[in-house]
Amino acid sequence: MKFFLDTANLEELKAGARWGIIDGVTTNPSLIAKEGVAMEDQIRKICAIIDGDISAEVVATDADGMLVEGRKLAKIHKNVVVKVPLTRDGIRACSIFHKEGIRVNVTLCFSAGQAILAAKAGATYVSPFVGRIDDIGGNGMDLIRDIVHIYKNYEFRTQVLAASLRTSTHVIDAAKAGAHVGTLPFKVVDALFNHPLTDKGLDQFLKDYGKVFQEVPAGR
Ligand code: E4P
Repeated sequence: MKFFLDTANLEELKAGARWGIIDGVTTNPSLIAKEGVAMEDQIRKICAIIDGDISAEVVATDADGMLVEGRKLAKIHKNVVVKVPLTRDGIRACSIFHKEGIRVNVTLCFSAGQAILAAKAGATYVSPFVGRIDDIGGNGMDLIRDIVHIYKNYEFRTQVLAASLRTSTHVIDAAKAGAHVGTLPFKVVDALFNHPLTDKGLDQFLKDYGKVFQEVPAGR
């Protein structure tokens, strides 16, 4: 499973990059707006930090506008993947981008039917939003399972990018469901590290070692 960071915050991206486990980044207009830097400038900075696919979303809602914006975004860096919403115009733009060799992440996917449309339009990634489905009383993980199953049936090459993952359990369940990618907010990646038995075990190891060798490792 590839891990993408779902953030446009440069400090979080630098911290994630240091762990060596981040394969890419997803952004959206809300995340970019939170950083207060215009889309293209912020995407350029992100590309300099993370060597992996970086999703940059168009804000136009008509296909022609999406094409203009997407082509500009794709020129920023070879790793940029243009993100378009799962609308009629978004799917039309995706088909055209695909023919032009521009990779696309189709976002705001909330049904298996929509995911089939994205695959047929040649999307590189489809982003089903797990947490937002859970928010309205549905089961977001069922959607991940359904899409993975359908894509396997037809050998669609579109990768399932489980998005809107809010907890460690979401990440584990998405991995069990076979999602190709999970995009995680920084705090969700960070939480994956935690286990009380790891802390307790490490403490014990160091105490035992110290009792015999009286060595305190640097930083302890
Ligand atoms: C994915 O591309 C989206 O940016 C993101 O995962 C949405 O997450 P949220 O529902 O927690 O805002």
